[in-house]
Amino acid sequence: MQEKFYLTTAIDYVNGEPHIGHAYEKILSDVIIRHKRQIIDNAFMLTGTDEHGIKIQKTAASKGITPKELCDENFSKFEAAWKELEISYDKIIRTTDLQHTKTVKKIFSKLLENGDIYKHSYTGLYCSGCESFLSPKDLTEDGLCPDHMKKPEEITEENYFFKLTKYKDKIAEYIKSHPEFIQPSSRVNELLNQLENIEDISVSRTKSSVQWGIDVDGDESQTIYVWIDALSNYITAIGYDIDNPDEQFKKLWPADVHVIGKDIIKFHSIYWIAILMSLGLPLPKTIYAHGWITIDQSKMSKSIGNVIAPHDVLMAFNLDKPDAFRYYMASAALIGKDGNYSDEDFKEKVNADLANNIGNLLNRTLNMLVKYFDGEIKNEFITDKTSKIAILAENTKTQIIEAFNKYEIAEASNLIVSFADFVNKYVTETAPWSLAKEGKMLETGKVLYNVLEAMRHIAILLYPYCPNISADILTQLSQNTDFKYTNLVWGKLQAGKITEKDKIKPVFLRLDSEFATDKKKG
Ligand code: ME8
Ligand code: MG
Repeated sequence: MQEKFYLTTAIDYVNGEPHIGHAYEKILSDVIIRHKRQIIDNAFMLTGTDEHGIKIQKTAASKGITPKELCDENFSKFEAAWKELEISYDKIIRTTDLQHTKTVKKIFSKLLENGDIYKHSYTGLYCSGCESFLSPKDLTEDGLCPDHMKKPEEITEENYFFKLTKYKDKIAEYIKSHPEFIQPSSRVNELLNQLENIEDISVSRTKSSVQWGIDVDGDESQTIYVWIDALSNYITAIGYDIDNPDEQFKKLWPADVHVIGKDIIKFHSIYWIAILMSLGLPLPKTIYAHGWITIDQSKMSKSIGNVIAPHDVLMAFNLDKPDAFRYYMASAALIGKDGNYSDEDFKEKVNADLANNIGNLLNRTLNMLVKYFDGEIKNEFITDKTSKIAILAENTKTQIIEAFNKYEIAEASNLIVSFADFVNKYVTETAPWSLAKEGKMLETGKVLYNVLEAMRHIAILLYPYCPNISADILTQLSQNTDFKYTNLVWGKLQAGKITEKDKIKPVFLRLDSEFATDKKKG
C-alpha cells in the first residue's frame, strides 16, 4: 500500500482576525507537511475556519451585518494571511460549506440512531464567551468565567446530549495503550484525570439561544452545537459520508495528526474520539498539542491590546518573503511549551542563524571558489561519504526524521543549525585561504567541496521552514530546486562551473542591516 500522511490543523473561529498565535499553528503544520512531502508522495494538509455559533451571531449583530457576511469578510483575512505565509494546505474548509453542513446533519442523525444522543432537560451556567456550560468549580471566587471574567448566565434548556460516559473506559484504554496518541506525552495524566470526571455533553442548543448553526434534521427547534459541527470537519472535508465515503476519504483517513493548541486537547482526545467510536471509524494516530505564543510573556488578548497580526511583523521588518518569520515561529518553542514573541528576539535569532551562520557561510565559500578556481568544482575535489562532514550530514538527516516523527519541530531546526555550526568551525580550522596561499590547491578544493555539498544538504533540510531561502541556496549552487530527501546523498553536487563573481548574492539580508535599511527607504 502507498504510504500516506494526513495532517489537520484546528479550524479558526472567524469572529476575529488572524494573529500570530493562529499563525504559529499553521506554520508548524506547514513545516510538518512540507517535510513529509520531501519523503512521501501522498501527504495532505487540511486547514479551515469555524464559522458557526453564538459569538459570530453576536459580533455580526453588533456590526449590523449578517453572520454570513461577517464569516466571508474574516475568512478572506485568514485565507490572505496563509497565502502570505506560504501555508501550502491542500484544502481549506469552511464549516458553512454546503458539503460540510449536509454531512454534519447526517452524522448527528446517525449518533441519534445509535442511541448515543438523547434529549434531556438541562440547567446550567452558560458562558457565551466559551460557548459552553461551565461547572461551578470552573468559576473564579467571584463566580466569573476565568477566561472571560464575565458572570455566566443560568440557562435551562431542552437539549440533545451525547453519551460520552458510555465511551469513557474505552477512551482511557486507548490513551493508555497508544503512547504516541497524545503528544507531548506530559499531557496524558491531566487528560486521564479529566476523563475520570467526565459527564455526558450537550450537543445542541435551542433555536432561541443560538440561531447561527446547523439545524438538527427533523427537529427544527434545535441547532447543532459547535463542537460536533467543528470536529467533524476533519472527515467531511475529505469526503466522508455515512454510507458512501469518497475514495479520498478511504485513502486518507484516519488522520496521522491533528495539530491543535493545548486549550482544546480535551475536545480532541475525548469528545472527538467518542464520536468516531460511535460512528465506527478508525481513530487518529496522534493529537499534537502545541503551547501558546505569548507577547511579553502574557497571552495575546484584545482587551490587553497586544494582538499582533503576522502581516504586521512582515511589514515592520520590510520582509517580502515569509521565511524568516516562519523560521522564527517554528523554532520558538520546544514541543508543547509556550513560546514568546518579541521583535528583538526575532531579529537576533534570524540574524544569527539565517544571515550569519548559514547565509555567510555560503557566500564566503562561493567567493573562494571564484577566487581560486574561477567558480568551478573539479572532479578531483569531490569527497566520498566517509568524510567527517558527510557522516555528520547523514546523521543530521536521520535525527531530523526522528525529530519530525515525534513532532519536535523546533528541535529539528536546532539540528540544522548545529550542523551549520560544525561546518563553520570546519572552515575556520581548515583555513582554505591559508591552504591556497601555500599552493595546496587540491586540499583547498576538497575543503570547498565539503562545505558546498554540506550547504546543499542544509538547503534541503531547511526547506520546510524556509522554502524561498532554500531555493535560493540551491540556485546559487546551480542545482535544481528539487527538495526530495532522495537528493540527500553525499556527492550529488557534481563537477562543473557553478558560479561566477556577479552571480553571488546573499540569500538572507540581516534585519536592520544597511542593505535592509536601504531597501526600506526604497
Ligand atoms: O479553538 N498561541 O478556534 P480558535 C498559540 N474553533 N496558539 C493559539 C493562540 C496563541 N496565542 N491562540 C489561539 C478554536 N491558538 C476552535 C477550534 S477545531 C475542530 C475547533 C490556537 O480560533 C488554538 O489553540 O480559538 C487553536 O488550536 C487555534 O489557534 C484556533 O483557535
Ligand atoms: Mg480559542
